[in-house]
Amino acid sequence: MRLALLGCGTVGAEVVRLLTDQAADLTARIGAPLELVGIAVRRPGRRRGDVPIDPALFTTDALGLIKRDDVDVVIEVVGGIEPARGWIVEALRAGKSVVTANKALLAEDGGTLHDAAAEGGADLYYEASVAGAIPLLRPLRESLHGDRITRVTGIVNGTTNFILSSMDATGAGFTEALEEATELGYAEADPTADVEGFDAAAKAAILASLAFHTRVTAADVFREGMTGVTAGDVASANAMGCTIKLLCLAERGPDSHGTESVSVRVHPAMIPRSHPLASVGDAFNAVFVEAEAAGQLMFYGRGAGGTPTASAVLGDVVAAARNRLAGTRAPSESVYAHLPIRPIGEAVTRYHISLDVADRQGVLATVAGVFAKHEVSIATVRQSGREADATLVIVTHGAPDSHLAATVAELEQLDIVRSIASVLRVEGGA
Ligand code: NDP
Ligand code: HSE
Repeated sequence: MRLALLGCGTVGAEVVRLLTDQAADLTARIGAPLELVGIAVRRPGRRRGDVPIDPALFTTDALGLIKRDDVDVVIEVVGGIEPARGWIVEALRAGKSVVTANKALLAEDGGTLHDAAAEGGADLYYEASVAGAIPLLRPLRESLHGDRITRVTGIVNGTTNFILSSMDATGAGFTEALEEATELGYAEADPTADVEGFDAAAKAAILASLAFHTRVTAADVFREGMTGVTAGDVASANAMGCTIKLLCLAERGPDSHGTESVSVRVHPAMIPRSHPLASVGDAFNAVFVEAEAAGQLMFYGRGAGGTPTASAVLGDVVAAARNRLAGTRAPSESVYAHLPIRPIGEAVTRYHISLDVADRQGVLATVAGVFAKHEVSIATVRQSGREADATLVIVTHGAPDSHLAATVAELEQLDIVRSIASVLRVEGGA
């Protein structure tokens, strides 16, 4: 089985290492040796960590490498939309199997890749694109195909989980925790994709597509980053026995007209400390899947880093190579359900709202009246402080997000509300 590797950075260099270190075992598992015939990069002369690689393998002509007649499997670990999309489409249409870790491309235009795979009769594998080393997409794509998945809740971004875990453990603010994440090498020089939720939204789209047999793109995902989470929010969460996580949530259920639909969102949320995702600390990822027959399933592990991600890539390479030897194919894209996407306003969630108010007669009644007007039921109210320094912390029962947002907008206009200190969604509780 001959392999072409596109990209030899953090992930690609570790793919080469594993291919070399585990050559004998991989040959035994597949029934044929794997031979790396070329590596396409931008700068062939660059040193690739401590992985010894034959310099003759490097080329800057990725397309020429893909088009070689003797290439069976193309591994794409370059990232980004173009030229990766053109290369993958070219390989698949030519009947070559493709293994990719490219979450951004799959979330933006996965349909084009799947169509090319169908056209070329080729395999498209992408386990590494969501949650790094965690075997997650294959369970969704194969093991759970006898069941109906109702909800997927995940921590799928390691950088932001590190930051939020650090804020929770030390009481630090966002900026301080981000600095620590950068110093330790968790956060990239430009952390925008992570802290603004773009990375998690791409992964949410891929998970939702597989879970609900429907093409979901990054544009369908409601996204709110975690830069606005303050030390005060974390303290409020603590006081409620909760912690704050950047969650990706994908759910199926009826929309306001009763039509079965899909809701996909990424935002920070309070979750009870008793929830299985609350104990996921450091830069780890975890995904909680709920299915009608299987019940609750939890997947946990390292979601990033060269070696863990290369583990997932190699697993796909073995599967693709075995299929080619056996003359079979991976399961093709399953999008028969074509469920519509439900807007964020119809997602049912709970809010935690902290208000600085004047402490005098009738204030609570006025505030409660605003909730009632927008058909939002209050679950708990807690007041701390007195007179000029009173704070009301209100937690709601589940309500459509649009009703909750309208409630907050009206509270902002009240004279008796001096400021709204924080608004956070609450997930995972009764
Ligand atoms: P890197 O930036 O470390 O490596 C990218 C590689 O692609 C480099 O070898 C670079 O070449 C090469 N490259 C870039 N542009 C071109 C081009 N135009 N032509 C040829 N080669 C090119 O990225 P990562 O290894 O971190 O990520 C790769 C993929 O894996 C991405 O899709 C990413 O989202 C995904 N991923 C990464 C994870 C991680 O922890 N890093 C985790 C999960 C998924 P050169 O070295 O010469 O510059
Ligand atoms: N930046 C991502 C993270 C890398 O922090 O999880 C893995 O996709």
